[in-house]
Amino acid sequence: MAEAFVSTEERAAFIAGLPKAELHLHIEGSLEPELMFELAQRNNVAIPFASVDEVRAAYAFSNLQDFLDIYYQGMGVLHTEQDFHDLTAAYLVRAHTDAVRHVEIFFDPQGHTERGVAFATIIAGITRALDDARARYGMTSKLIMCFLRHLSEADAEKTLDAALPYLDRIDGVGLDSSEVGHPPAKFERVFARARTLGLKLVAHAGEEGPPAYVHEALDLLKVDRIDHGNRSLEDPALVARLAAEGMTLTVCPLSNLKLCVVDAIDAHPLRTMLVAGLRATVNSDDPSYFGGYVNANYLAVADALDLSKDDLITLARNSFTGSFLNDAEKAKHLAAIDAYA
Ligand code: ADE
Ligand code: ZN
Repeated sequence: MAEAFVSTEERAAFIAGLPKAELHLHIEGSLEPELMFELAQRNNVAIPFASVDEVRAAYAFSNLQDFLDIYYQGMGVLHTEQDFHDLTAAYLVRAHTDAVRHVEIFFDPQGHTERGVAFATIIAGITRALDDARARYGMTSKLIMCFLRHLSEADAEKTLDAALPYLDRIDGVGLDSSEVGHPPAKFERVFARARTLGLKLVAHAGEEGPPAYVHEALDLLKVDRIDHGNRSLEDPALVARLAAEGMTLTVCPLSNLKLCVVDAIDAHPLRTMLVAGLRATVNSDDPSYFGGYVNANYLAVADALDLSKDDLITLARNSFTGSFLNDAEKAKHLAAIDAYA
């Protein structure tokens, strides 16, 4: 019989200390309204909000595009190396507080280069914060550059060209932004080139898009991981395939709630995924916009679905197994989970 928790407090305490990795985190989505105001002032950028409360009040979304419109506007305050550093450092403090031992961070270069920010500026700021977190907390990290799928494949190719001088600091490429109407097939060639460069490959698929997009991400992009993947559950053959291949899904419960991918948190499919043998993980996606960092995501979904201690351990184990760490590093973290449990 799986060990149950007697209260939310007991569950929260267990989650708080549980060693974990975060595998689905857009660094621009960790921009808290307070920092947005500070950077707007620092850089003399106008923002259409009078107060932090007004910003938070604007975070009511009925779908992915509603969110993306405000997310791209928000990242417009980021200009200098120091800005990218401060953004990343603030996230890493939150992650450390949540017992995150390893992070794999997404960034959206096209959201910045199109505004005149140099690629070198973005990389320098983010990696300075990542290096500090390693020295300070022993927290390890990987960096994943996402292509915006509402833009063309030619634009993604140019972005990969711009990244070539920085491949010592970039571990993978991903695919994000508006999903429906922009299938993975659109990016088959640029992903093939990234693969020949030795980069890891991930793609958002099955968040709003159909199961066919998950098939395409696997078959055409040859991804190492699926981001979200919720709608895979509509296709039993796909579920069987994902389980058989041990494919990791980076699931984001509070994001799914805020973007109306699920109607209510107790309708979240995470338990169904685990029962189906899928390697699901829990992540925060864009925590500033969706109301919580990684532990808040674990707690919300664990409370709503009455997840057991074993379920939480499985989720934390999956986060390391599905990471891009090497086998020795994974083993070390899995042993730490065993010791904690
Ligand atoms: N960019 C940032 N967050 C995203 C999400 N949840 N889906 C697609 N693109 C994103
Ligand atoms: Zn995402």
